[in-house]
Amino acid sequence: MCRNSNLDISLETLINSIGSAVLVFDKSLTVRYFNKEAEKIILQLRKNLAAEAIFNNKKISSQILDCLKTNKSNFNKIRYRTTASKEVAVNIKSLRESKVNLAVVTLSDLSPLSEAKMMRSDFVSNVSHEIRSPLTSIIGFVETLQGPVGEDKEKREEFLRVISNEANRMTNLVSDLLSLSLVEAKEKREIKGRVKPKEVVKSAIEAVKPLTVKKNKKIIFEDVENISEIPGHQDNLLRVFINLLENSLYYSEENSTITVSIKKIFSSDSEAETGVEISVNDKSSGIPSEEIPRLTERFYRVDRSRSRIEGGTGLGLAIVKHILLRHNGKLSIESIRGKGSTFTVHLPS
Ligand SMILES: Nc1ncnc2c1ncn2[C@@H]1O[C@H](COP(=O)(O)OP(=O)(O)OP(=O)(O)O)[C@@H](O)[C@H]1O
Ligand SMILES: [Mg+2]
Repeated sequence: MCRNSNLDISLETLINSIGSAVLVFDKSLTVRYFNKEAEKIILQLRKNLAAEAIFNNKKISSQILDCLKTNKSNFNKIRYRTTASKEVAVNIKSLRESKVNLAVVTLSDLSPLSEAKMMRSDFVSNVSHEIRSPLTSIIGFVETLQGPVGEDKEKREEFLRVISNEANRMTNLVSDLLSLSLVEAKEKREIKGRVKPKEVVKSAIEAVKPLTVKKNKKIIFEDVENISEIPGHQDNLLRVFINLLENSLYYSEENSTITVSIKKIFSSDSEAETGVEISVNDKSSGIPSEEIPRLTERFYRVDRSRSRIEGGTGLGLAIVKHILLRHNGKLSIESIRGKGSTFTVHLPS
């Protein structure tokens, strides 16, 4: 314990310096001190307000009373809902020294935790939904094939094709989910390697060649000289450009051309190179502007049926976003109705 008369500061000063919500109650069960953080959580908080009036919760008031009477401090935390969307954990401790007999109540915001819980349950329900629909379809077609329709060669081949497509969709989903969870887990890890951005782009164009041919489209790379190496994870960045190119190949106009360009970025006040920008531009009817901010959300698809036909799971851009976060980079999306879209990757050097 630190005992030094120079450090004698008032209780009020002390609680105002604490970053979480604190309320101090005296033996009349009214609040003597509280800090700004407490005011943020409990609206219309005033000095001398009774605990019952503040919390409107018998359990909290009786624990404060118990604490003041018995000096007890080992209460179980109480979860208390301050508004429909905000929940806090209430912790009560006794503060007793010579003539002082107070109860210190701290409130810790549980909302970020609740939000994480909600996101997790949303995610699970989305995944279940995504898995259930191809499974239902596979089971349906297998049952049909087991009946008299199975005797018809043409129908049998058609249904087997559907089953195979649906099974492929599930495989894509599982591999995208794995990629997403891997890049999320590594999001905070420092990037150690260095990459040549032009080489990564060229490899991505090479990787999507079979799809380019299948879709009867063309990819042009507007190459420029002297692009320096940047910090980067080769495989992850390759995944970024493959995902963007695949999207352009899937969602652009028939027989159209996709243009990839690369340029250096300089700081505004000096000639120093600060990074690179790589853009993938395609021709399509465009993406409605209100949809653009949602594209990187997991499972978000503008046109579900179109994405489904292409075997899409709606995770591609979420993976791109997480990889770029790890690189301290970002993705910007522009789309013009009737013209097409440009997805630009910004990467720092
Ligand atoms: N270049 C593009 N032009 C038009 N729409 C696009 C383009 N890129 C993405 N989109 C829209 O954004 C949605 C989300 O893209 P994302 O890549 O995340 O998922 P996906 O392509 O549906 O599935 P996958 O997980 O297989 O990539 C797509 O379904 C599509 O509606
Ligand atoms: Mg995609």
